[in-house]
Amino acid sequence: MTKFEPKIVGFVCNWCTYAGADLAGVTRTQYRPNVRIVRVPCTGRVDPLFIIKAFENGADGVLISGCHPGDCHYISGNFHAKRRWIFFKGLTDFIGIEPERIQYAWVSAAEANKWAKMVDEVTESIAKLGPFTRYHDLKKPLPDQNAPPMIWSEAWLPGIEEGVELPEESPSAPALREKARELLESGEVKVVIGYCWAKRQRRVVPLFISKPEEVSRLVFNSLCVNNLAVYLPKKQGDVAKMGKPAIIAKGCDIKTIVVLLQEEQIARDGVVILGVSCSGVVYRQELWKGKMAPDLLAPKCFDCDVKTPHLA
Ligand code: FES
Repeated sequence: MTKFEPKIVGFVCNWCTYAGADLAGVTRTQYRPNVRIVRVPCTGRVDPLFIIKAFENGADGVLISGCHPGDCHYISGNFHAKRRWIFFKGLTDFIGIEPERIQYAWVSAAEANKWAKMVDEVTESIAKLGPFTRYHDLKKPLPDQNAPPMIWSEAWLPGIEEGVELPEESPSAPALREKARELLESGEVKVVIGYCWAKRQRRVVPLFISKPEEVSRLVFNSLCVNNLAVYLPKKQGDVAKMGKPAIIAKGCDIKTIVVLLQEEQIARDGVVILGVSCSGVVYRQELWKGKMAPDLLAPKCFDCDVKTPHLA
């Protein structure tokens, strides 16, 4: 009675896997009763938010199953689902969900035995991982939730750690530092939001500087992944309180700024945008091994059409 029985949500395609599961029932095939089935017209309908919602509502695992390649009733829905899953997989760690908790499979209407076997295996593997509590833990308010954002302090000394090879700086970086200095010296802005290398965290992190002599800390290279525009809205009071900001923005970050302007969360004359040309950023900084390999490039950079930013 004390054995942990995982709750698994199964998003299954109406045409293949649902029929396969139905066949397993009709033929009285025995299998573990842990999967709660949600029938969808096609696996292409499975939005990653469905998966997150399932975990939020207490699932310990998610199973997505549909037609075999080439059998999708909507021609390529299952390929879209698979591709979406490949992208989403990279985010699961970030969200706090072990990727093994989400399984993807192809099961046809005739494969009742395969369905039963797969459910047994998936249940077993998720049972080994134990109950999923991480999401709920993450939702608990953090003690420092209302703490101000990290503002530059001399005590927090970034610097290039010995042996750590940083990617080549963007050719625009020196001009960027110069412009930041000019803006701070003239008093046109009170804070520059940019990037710096943080020795302790071993990664490039957001940096807020308010003194011209600190601009040498600013870096811009392919590890500058964060979208700094998140610090701009008025409700981010602590940055707003510092005075008018200048922000270093890649072309893709400027898209966010445009939305913030449209939503009137910021005013155009309330921010100076320092646009910087970007030839792509890495997918995840922790994967950086000193060389820029094509498979490290963030997916959003493959078909980027804003390498040279507008509006800046
Ligand atoms: Fe079954 Fe598209 S119809 S996966």
